[in-house]
Amino acid sequence: MGLSYKMRLVILALGICIMAGSGLLLKGLLVPDSFGVYGPYRADAIAENTELPIRHGTNSSCYACHTYEAKVHKTGLHSTISCEFCHGPWADHTDGKKKIGTLPVKTNQDITTLCLRCHNTEIKARSQQVIKTVAMPGHLESQKVKLTHNCNQCHHVHAPLKYIKRARQITGLTEEKI
Ligand code: HEC
Ligand code: HEC
Ligand code: HEC
Ligand code: HEC
Repeated sequence: MGLSYKMRLVILALGICIMAGSGLLLKGLLVPDSFGVYGPYRADAIAENTELPIRHGTNSSCYACHTYEAKVHKTGLHSTISCEFCHGPWADHTDGKKKIGTLPVKTNQDITTLCLRCHNTEIKARSQQVIKTVAMPGHLESQKVKLTHNCNQCHHVHAPLKYIKRARQITGLTEEKI
């Protein structure tokens, strides 16, 4: 190719101009209008999210209709745990006035799986001071039961030490005496 040195510079400069120009054009086309109004994100996203229908109702939204579960749950060590964590969202179940759909209720082995999502010693990242954890099958072996036992056969799911405390009261056992 017999291109002169100058000509090569011109082609190079032209190439850079075309790339920069198309880059700017694409940026103008692809960046949403409200980008950067509040910060490096789309400002419209805030309005869009506040318009989404509410899915979760918090525990107090369950209490009015489920007075028995509410009473048990409030007194136990699970009182800070969300009903909806274990049962699914409020919006699938009620419109606030009546029941409109069925929520899942775990049974048998699925209950154990649910409990171990928070209480498994294998979860090393969890502070043991906040949530006490158990090792399986060691926990069941120490209680001298078959390994097929599920957690709710001894622990009330809504107040996990309810029966265990009651058993201690009946037998007169205390932490010290054990
Ligand atoms: C740690 C998980 C967990 C939390 C938190 C929890 N539940 Fe449950 N719930 C269960 C499980 C598991 C069952 C079924 C097993 C059982 O009853 O022993 C159940 C059973 C129920 C049932 C009876 C369902 C049936 O058809 O027998 C109702 C109603 C209920 N829960 C409502 C609530 C409400 C209301 C809250 C909050 C105040 C709540 N639950 C908090 C796990 C949980
Ligand atoms: C407007 C009343 C009402 C509200 C509010 C309500 N429930 Fe219920 N729920 C019912 C009725 C009625 C039933 C069926 C009869 C029963 O089991 O007591 C039911 C049943 C359930 C069941 C058993 C499975 C099923 O769907 O039949 C679970 C679990 C449950 N509710 C959890 C919850 C949780 C968690 C909340 C809060 C997010 C909640 N409920 C809020 C009325 C309500
Ligand atoms: C979402 C996480 C979560 C799930 C799921 C859960 N728990 Fe808990 N559990 C907790 C927390 C948090 C505490 C401790 C509350 C405190 O000490 O204030 C607790 C406390 C307990 C305790 C008392 C421990 C102590 O401090 O002596 C027992 C027993 C227990 N849970 C058993 C269960 C069983 C059985 C299940 C399944 C039905 C279950 N947990 C499901 C979070 C969970
Ligand atoms: C055979 C009955 C039985 C079964 C089944 C059982 N537990 Fe327990 N669990 C107990 C007793 C009793 C204690 C109290 C032990 C103590 O205070 O020394 C306890 C204590 C706990 C504690 C508190 C531990 C601590 O360090 O204080 C947790 C968490 C717990 N259980 C979770 C579970 C989970 C999760 C399951 C299911 C995988 C389960 N348990 C199944 C009887 C049982």
